[in-house]
Amino acid sequence: MTGFSFTVHATDGTARAGTIRTAHGEVATPAFMAVGTAATVKAMQMRDVRETGTDVVLGNTYHLMLRPTAERVAEMGGLHKFMNWPHTILTDSGGFQVMSLAKLRKVTEEGVAFQSHIDGSKHMLTPERSMEIQSVLGSDIHMQFDECVELPNTREEIDRAMRLSLRWAERSKSAFRGGPGQAPFAIVQGGDQIDLRQASARELVAMDFPGYAVGGLAVGEPQEVMLRVLDETVPVLPAAKPRYLMGVGTPDDLLQSLSRGIDMFDCVMPTRAGRHGQAYTRFGRLNLKNARHATDPAPLDPESRCPAARDYSRAYLHHLVRSEEILGMTLLTWANLAYYQDLMAGARAAIGAGKLGDYIAETKAGWARGEE
Ligand code: GUN
Repeated sequence: MTGFSFTVHATDGTARAGTIRTAHGEVATPAFMAVGTAATVKAMQMRDVRETGTDVVLGNTYHLMLRPTAERVAEMGGLHKFMNWPHTILTDSGGFQVMSLAKLRKVTEEGVAFQSHIDGSKHMLTPERSMEIQSVLGSDIHMQFDECVELPNTREEIDRAMRLSLRWAERSKSAFRGGPGQAPFAIVQGGDQIDLRQASARELVAMDFPGYAVGGLAVGEPQEVMLRVLDETVPVLPAAKPRYLMGVGTPDDLLQSLSRGIDMFDCVMPTRAGRHGQAYTRFGRLNLKNARHATDPAPLDPESRCPAARDYSRAYLHHLVRSEEILGMTLLTWANLAYYQDLMAGARAAIGAGKLGDYIAETKAGWARGEE
């Protein structure tokens, strides 16, 4: 078995195109990872997720430890086999979800004690337990256990959580139990405080992780704050390691962030918006609930290679969404994932050709123009 690796093939300004290799295959970067929280990319079959051009699915320690439990997944052959996804899986550590979903949380130096949002049962997540669960699940990339605070927040609170996350990074790295082709990633914290971001990045780089995430963004701050944090933080991270911006974002967020040297993204936006009647297309975002689509025979995009975007009329999608039919969720999720993946494939090609600036300008003009 080969080890975990990252190769940069081309750069355009600070943007890069490359390949990550894991125990379960190759990931073309910049990559958008489909969110598969509870061992499912909601409403989708894995065959169709793959066909959109997805190389990585993201699973969640928090959800899977509660149901069906990591041990059950292991008994059934591991997460790849359980969910029928033989390609790369990245698992988040639970640090973020425990803060947003669990009830009665208590954060201590040791970890986070909490009650399940499902049945109120009591649990404890520590860096060691999170890394153990991720290893039992068998994912390829294991995120460190961290604490992410909301923004806006006080500098004291941002500083406290960032320093705790640094101590948890050390413990997470020591507790990592992956084999060849698996790797632990660190998470930079520090909120909107540039000096704290840079201190976090420097300390994590000294710990020498195989990859680095930027966490704690898209938590309530304006886009310009996020981009400023990236401008000041990404240069501190090593050029030879992959960089992952967690939980981001809109198509524009992705283009702006990959321009600044980000290689990996995940976000619920294409999948969640798809379940709520929204479509992301070359012509911008459409709300299929809107009455103006009721008699429109055109598909979302006649030139798409995705069947969901190409083979069904907007009138039909409008009907499915209005009737709350399951198929409406499936088709819009599918079309949105395909659009996000096409956007990333276009960015990779543009970086290779040294034309990322033109690609972004043309893409944004398409969103602004609409379909006329
Ligand atoms: N997902 C989005 N943001 C974060 C973060 O800061 N930490 C973790 N663990 N997951 C995230």
